[in-house]
Amino acid sequence: MSDRAEEDTVAYTVENGIAWVSFNRPEKRNCMSPKLNRQMLRVIESLEFREDVGVLVLKGEGTSWSAGMDLKEYFRENEEKGLHATRQAQREAYGWWERLRWFEKPTIAMVNGWCFGGAYGPLFACDLAFADQDAQFGLSEINWGILPGGGASKIITELATFRRAMYHAMMGENIDGKTAAEWGLVNEALPADQLQARVTAVANTLLAKNATALRATKWAIRRVREMTYDNAQDYLIRAQEAANMFDGEGRKEATRQFIDDKSFKPGLGAYDLTKQRDA
Ligand code: ACO
Repeated sequence: MSDRAEEDTVAYTVENGIAWVSFNRPEKRNCMSPKLNRQMLRVIESLEFREDVGVLVLKGEGTSWSAGMDLKEYFRENEEKGLHATRQAQREAYGWWERLRWFEKPTIAMVNGWCFGGAYGPLFACDLAFADQDAQFGLSEINWGILPGGGASKIITELATFRRAMYHAMMGENIDGKTAAEWGLVNEALPADQLQARVTAVANTLLAKNATALRATKWAIRRVREMTYDNAQDYLIRAQEAANMFDGEGRKEATRQFIDDKSFKPGLGAYDLTKQRDA
């Protein structure tokens, strides 16, 4: 099915506040073609402001999360057309990874099977990541004669230590999900049959928290990584003040439930959002 229609390269369902979005080229191990990249941008943009979506999970159909960029349709065919085609394909790929990095709602990568090269872009774009312990992660670029581009070199140095990043990029050896968790590429690695349940539980925990605070938090964690301490402190003051203007009632209600009602303790879980909605 190499001629899969563009709209069929990505699948999704929305259930109980969670958008389950899939790389949907299992016959090609979900490698990213220009069609898939265009369709993924359409899908994630269509989900971003839906009221019935609170968390987005990115998963892979079949035996792979994503085998990286499509060596035929992304690289070779565009190189044959000329630089303009290569640049367009790069913009389409990097474009949806960027949209996903700054998605308005929490995002979770649920990694099964293969995760290679370019797939580190969407892996890093997701706020959290959980993997099958037998998943295989690799910067295979070196194995076919290129450097880890498309952000992959940057991503591995963001997520792993210098020595691990260098070894991973230069050796072209894969690591399994368990090692990926030890290295910090994913939050946790689990047996395959427990993966979806764990991701669902994490998503449900996020769904029970204040959405404005979650958005401010995920953007803050990404932004402050590249700031000096003083700049970060200043950014965080302003980000919180902006969040207060956007939704000032949340923390007032939470404070009321803690101090006046004594119905919850912030150290032990989230306040009751339904009371805020009813207020
Ligand atoms: N680009 C293009 N086609 C691909 C890719 C890819 N990245 N990955 C898999 N496919 C295709 C195969 O060519 C094959 O197509 P065909 O059925 O028309 O022959 C089909 O997907 C199935 O792949 P197999 O190799 O038969 O599947 P297998 O399960 O044996 O192996 C594996 C899976 C290990 C992922 C292998 O396909 C592979 O090494 N793929 C390339 C991984 C890679 O290095 N990706 C690029 C990273 S670098 C970057 O992204 C910039």
